[in-house]
Amino acid sequence: MDYLLANTPLESLSTECLIVAVFNDIKLSPAAQNLDSLSNGVITDILQRGDIKGKVADTLLINYLPHAAFKRALLVGFGDADKLSAKTYREALNAAAKALKSSHISEAVCCLAEINLAGLNATWNARQIVESFDAALYQFNHCKSKPADKFSLTSLSLHDQSDSDAIQTGINQGIAIAQGVALAKRVSDLPGNICTPTYLADQALEIAAQHANLSAEILEEAEMQKLGMGSFLSVSRGSRQPAKLITLEYKGADADIQPIVFVGKGLTFDAGGISLKPSAGMDEMKYDMCGSAAVLGALQAAAQLQLPLNIVGIIPSSENMPDGDANKPGDIVTSMAGLTIEILNTDAEGRLILCDALTYAKKFNPDVVIDMATLTGACLVALGRVPSGLLGNDETLCNDLFNASETALDSIWRLPLWDEYQDQLKSNFADIANIGGRDAGTITAACFLSRFTKDYQWAHLDIAGTAWKSGDAKGATGRPVPLLVQYLLNRAATA
Ligand code: BES
Ligand code: MN
Ligand code: ZN
Repeated sequence: MDYLLANTPLESLSTECLIVAVFNDIKLSPAAQNLDSLSNGVITDILQRGDIKGKVADTLLINYLPHAAFKRALLVGFGDADKLSAKTYREALNAAAKALKSSHISEAVCCLAEINLAGLNATWNARQIVESFDAALYQFNHCKSKPADKFSLTSLSLHDQSDSDAIQTGINQGIAIAQGVALAKRVSDLPGNICTPTYLADQALEIAAQHANLSAEILEEAEMQKLGMGSFLSVSRGSRQPAKLITLEYKGADADIQPIVFVGKGLTFDAGGISLKPSAGMDEMKYDMCGSAAVLGALQAAAQLQLPLNIVGIIPSSENMPDGDANKPGDIVTSMAGLTIEILNTDAEGRLILCDALTYAKKFNPDVVIDMATLTGACLVALGRVPSGLLGNDETLCNDLFNASETALDSIWRLPLWDEYQDQLKSNFADIANIGGRDAGTITAACFLSRFTKDYQWAHLDIAGTAWKSGDAKGATGRPVPLLVQYLLNRAATA
């Protein structure tokens, strides 16, 4: 899909479909007014007939226009112009993308960037348009013998005459984010027998090969053994697939600038191990690597945008399977940090691989470390499928992430990481237990990680409820790539 800038006057454009905004009470956006007068008042006529009210996410495709250069128009409702929020703007964009997706239109001109939103700018609008259309047009075709028909739409031009530079910047950012999201969705949607730790490692190498200042390094089990990653390796012992520790390093700033480090859980299949999961819905545990997919997507986007930052992505990747050599409940392992861990439930494996990756992160002298993981089912109980969970040991970092999530429309919500919860991880036999009982499962999981992140500013994103959708629309969402890239853009703006 091509996203282009169209900065000539509407009068001199021609297109298969012009996309314009309408509001409640028969109010027209500037482009809609322009179209109305160029086509003898057809738009006002249609609005007066009541065929479209202008409510948020209403759409109406006008298939014939008395204007030779515009074959069709898509009217998109944005509600009350003075009540428009970032969220409703995005909702309306999604509806526009959906309407075009089901048409035979191959090329369109979009006049939706001109809408004013309090506190936001044309760059943000353009970015959202690209992200919204690209998300709507995502198709997973890699495993179908006969791929579904491709969508007709292949080119979208964003029309704006006021600030071309701002729009072009937004298009570039939107493309980088959308491609990062699409990459994350693709590797996440791939099944566990294809997307193995080795496959993820190959993906990292491939992404790195595309940019001179992006490099990848893959550590094998023998090297992890030497580093003392007894916790991580205990999980992979139960699987025939060799574990990989993948590091992507992006160098966009001077060597002495401390990097932002992302750590992503890369469990390519989580059967639970000896604490086997129930069979119903177990297929969805192929998504237990969505954290790692987001790290790949965010690093690719950062490199595409050549952000003036140093960024490291660390992916511990393994399967969690039941096997004669797998962890058993009660086993005690020694982490790279030296802390011993009593494994009371082998299904709490994410923290076991993350803790060693978080210790490994120290080697990069990080400015901040942000991990993302499909860590706890309890996160769905606490927050549902709307925001990702946020926990951390640093106010500034947590606030920065929260602000980025609001801008990116990739929501997160903070849970407390108070000391009172740490008691739930007491073990009679080791330094720490890997589970904290039924209560506050998302918090105690983060408490476990917090024992390994004391030396740096750290935040944890529990994406168990947000990384994929279940049911008819089953599929990865690519979250939290938009949040991560927004955080990076914000950091780049102040670097
Ligand atoms: N990958 C799962 C968490 C998960 C479950 C994410 C369902 C999304 C949907 C994780 O490894 C896990 O199994 N966690 C256990 C922890 C428990 C044993 C303390 C859980 O949430 O049940
Ligand atoms: Mn598990
Ligand atoms: Zn898991």
